[in-house]
Amino acid sequence: MAAGGCFPAAVLLVLVLSSTATAAAAQQVKSSQVWSLLRLRRLLGHPPVLASWTNNTDPCSGDPSPSLTVVCYGDGVTQLHIAGGDGSLPLSPSFSIDSFFTTLTRLPNLKVLSLSSLGLWGSLPGHKLARLSSLEILNLSSNFLSGPLPGELSSLVELQSLILDHNMFSGEVPTGLGQLSRLAVVSARNNSLSGELPESLANLEGLRVLAFSGNNLSGGLPDLTGLTNLQVLDVGDNHLGPDFPKLGKKVATVVLRNNTFTGGLPADVTSYHLLQKLDISHNRFVGPFLPALLSLPSIRHLDIAGNRFTGLLFSNLSCNDGLEFVDFSFNLLTGSLPACLAGESVSNNVSYLMNCLSDLAQPQHPYSFCRTQALAVGVIPTRPRKGSSRKAAVVASVTAAAMVAAAFLVLLGLFTLRKLSKRNARMKPPRRLVEHASNGYPSKLLSDASEPPTPTESSQFPPKLHGFLMITAIHLLSRPCP
Ligand SMILES: *[C@@H]1O[C@H](CO)[C@@H](O)[C@H](O)[C@H]1NC(C)=O
Ligand SMILES: *[C@@H]1O[C@H](CO)[C@@H](O)[C@H](O)[C@H]1NC(C)=O
Repeated sequence: MAAGGCFPAAVLLVLVLSSTATAAAAQQVKSSQVWSLLRLRRLLGHPPVLASWTNNTDPCSGDPSPSLTVVCYGDGVTQLHIAGGDGSLPLSPSFSIDSFFTTLTRLPNLKVLSLSSLGLWGSLPGHKLARLSSLEILNLSSNFLSGPLPGELSSLVELQSLILDHNMFSGEVPTGLGQLSRLAVVSARNNSLSGELPESLANLEGLRVLAFSGNNLSGGLPDLTGLTNLQVLDVGDNHLGPDFPKLGKKVATVVLRNNTFTGGLPADVTSYHLLQKLDISHNRFVGPFLPALLSLPSIRHLDIAGNRFTGLLFSNLSCNDGLEFVDFSFNLLTGSLPACLAGESVSNNVSYLMNCLSDLAQPQHPYSFCRTQALAVGVIPTRPRKGSSRKAAVVASVTAAAMVAAAFLVLLGLFTLRKLSKRNARMKPPRRLVEHASNGYPSKLLSDASEPPTPTESSQFPPKLHGFLMITAIHLLSRPCP
């Protein structure tokens, strides 16, 4: 019974002692770091979100909220999260990003720094940022930061998330990011970054999210096959291309919309069992649509609009039950809309405008349009290669020109003979000849009669030269007989 009486007292004593210790520690934090926090507030122009920080309260002891969280541990601030309001304006012209980061370096224990929608403007001072060497999460989204991404980012070796969305950063993505072996999230959507994404990103084995949509990036993507944890690739609204990126098989979201990707989809897309969202709309993809995409086990959102996918759809194709959104619009598909896309759960979010499908609930082109366009697509030259193959192309075009000229002479000879025998018969160019010539892909005619040409065969014949020769031929052929 005695122990029973003592025990609560002992607990109470410990509690009192420890809370005194905590208070003392907080006091220390306060004395060493609160000054810096208050200075940050002043540099930020006293934003409303920091109104709760008064001279007499301890910022560390405030309740965390979505717009303001300060976590202190031991002798320092370890997390600082401040989110200003939507539609924030740039801070006054007297704001100095340099002074701001100087003050931040007085909080060297920061692991999480999230400062969004605060009107920060200017160029990130790399050498000061580098001193925040404990940073694991850096989120500076929705500010007005500009200039290059500093190369010094590569010295933040603990960094796991780098989020710089909705700023005005320009220049190239620094190669050094590839050294940050813990990076899981890299996101710089809606900036003005240019150039190619560095190959070094392919080293980041832990990467889960790679998001650079809405920049001016160009060129191909690094080979990302080795990034077996990559779940989100979002690089829409850039100038990337031409080949569909090489990806690990765990991807869940692939957004390539509004770029210059061309060629066909690689067959292994149909083995991405975790793929939920595929948006490859508004590119220059050609070749057969892969109906297996509709039945991928995780697929929910499929957007291939605004390409030149061809192929015959059947009403009995199967779809994944989870499909929520499908857009096939502005392609060259023929056949019937799969019945599984007409079901109640999904049909409101299915768009197939302007193909050549037999289902006319949404406006379609006539079948002949898709056929003609598909033939044209079939002879689009593969992308030019550098060096020797360019020479080969010149040689091929000279040879081709000679062959066409010879063929033309033979044709002319035949024509004259024919005219002599059938004086009154007027020979008109066949309709298809004209159609193709007007498409600018007249070389197709040469092989139309036999097998369809493979793209490499036809790519040896520059279409413009052919077009010129054939149009000349058509003109000569259709001239009235003297
Ligand atoms: C807080 O302290 C600063 C300087 O230490 C002083 O200028 C300011 O007036 C104080 N504010 C309040 C509300 O006491
Ligand atoms: C970055 O901060 C913004 C604003 O607080 C937030 O909406 C966003 O989710 C954060 N990003 C990440 C990846 O945590």
